[in-house]
Amino acid sequence: MSSERVSIHGQWSSRLAFVLAATGSAVGLGNIWKFPYITGENGGGAFVLVYLACIAVIGIPIMMAEVMLGRRGRQSPINTMRTLAAEEHASKHWQWLGWAGVIAGFLILSYYSVIAGWALSYVFRTGSGLFTGLTADGVQTIFTNLTGDPERLLAWHTLFMVMTMIVVAQGVRNGLEKAVKWLMPMLFVLLFIMVGYAWNSGSFEQGLNFLFQPDFEKITANGILIAMGHAFFTLSLGMGAIMVYGSYLPAGASIARTSILVSLMDTAVALLAGMAIFPIVFANGLEPGSGPGLIFQTLPIAFGHMQYGAFFGMLFFVLLVFAAWSSSISLIEPAVAWLVENRGMTRGSASIIAGVVTWLVGLLTVLSFNLWSEVKLLSYFAIFRDSTPFDLLDYLTANIMLPLGGLLIAIFAARKMSRASSVDELGMGDRFFYPVWRFLVRYITPIAVIIVFLKAIGIIDWLVSWYDRLV
Ligand code: PFF
Repeated sequence: MSSERVSIHGQWSSRLAFVLAATGSAVGLGNIWKFPYITGENGGGAFVLVYLACIAVIGIPIMMAEVMLGRRGRQSPINTMRTLAAEEHASKHWQWLGWAGVIAGFLILSYYSVIAGWALSYVFRTGSGLFTGLTADGVQTIFTNLTGDPERLLAWHTLFMVMTMIVVAQGVRNGLEKAVKWLMPMLFVLLFIMVGYAWNSGSFEQGLNFLFQPDFEKITANGILIAMGHAFFTLSLGMGAIMVYGSYLPAGASIARTSILVSLMDTAVALLAGMAIFPIVFANGLEPGSGPGLIFQTLPIAFGHMQYGAFFGMLFFVLLVFAAWSSSISLIEPAVAWLVENRGMTRGSASIIAGVVTWLVGLLTVLSFNLWSEVKLLSYFAIFRDSTPFDLLDYLTANIMLPLGGLLIAIFAARKMSRASSVDELGMGDRFFYPVWRFLVRYITPIAVIIVFLKAIGIIDWLVSWYDRLV
């Protein structure tokens, strides 16, 4: 094992600490905010099924690959890729994979922070009892008043970025590692309470059917790409976040077991969120495909009508903010680790620089919901006809950059790296499980990603029609 190499940034105190941090990174807005609304936009069951398949055959193997590369390199993704490429006699251009990840991290965090800002503001809105007794219309008005006001969005975005920078500056072990231990179980409990409420909402069955009954008529090639992109996004894969966390993982810990555990918890949170939200959507005659505002327009209805709703509502949004917080720190950790390694900065200055850049890019998203809501840069393409700058940023990062990053990680881990190195680093022997992993990462993952890309671009349909004409 590469245990002779040590990370200059320190190490997790134990395997459990890594599991908590990685779960903290994986579980976030992606599960509770994004999963329900993209499921709603893409027709429900069939989309969920494709997403689950992607988690199993692409997500888990790639997570193992990323943790493995990180632990072997023990540096920021950029330097890890450079070191490992040299060690395995591969091209030094592999370091660009690290750079692409850093850029994806900035772009994702730029909008992630704005949405986390919405959640922050909802802590106070629910806590003050603002939603008590309100109908769906009233709840919706409150939401559109928030997103329509750029100054308010900017203030919350700024606050969330400052929170992120403070924790990142503290370093690997102080900071959120401790908090996640308490928050994650509480989040589960609260989601169960919400599902319990949804159960009594009168439309529980309809909600579950929407979520779990696949109707393949309803899913498009683009929907499949979104499901795959979301598998990467929700597990924090394809940009080096899990790689950099892997670089702080103690030598002996089992990479396979931790990756499976983290993926299972992440999936459970997303499904629970869906089970809480869709029954409320149907019980109130709302539109499942109503977009990024979905949870902010549905859950407050429930909080406004349940006993102690103001308390539960506040608690829910506090937990959501923490879930987002523990994800946001992993989004800039690759950049911060690199600034410390190569520019000799302290973690404090590195966090400030990375934070300010992200904050600035975040203005694109702040404005997308109000002053620039009619700016449709790529309206020439049918699928982007209604896409604001925020939608484009989200699409570019989650559906293109992360899967491409994942594809390259798979190629490096299973084709450039020698079998001996990966057997050694994964530490699960050379029998059954290792060959399964290697087969998935060598063949299944890259082929699946490439097919989904080609299908989304329309090349596969073009080939099929061409073939049909031939025969
Ligand atoms: N996995 C996070 C979520 O689901 O909210 C988002 C995320 C974090 C994506 C870190 C990518 C990443 F590198």
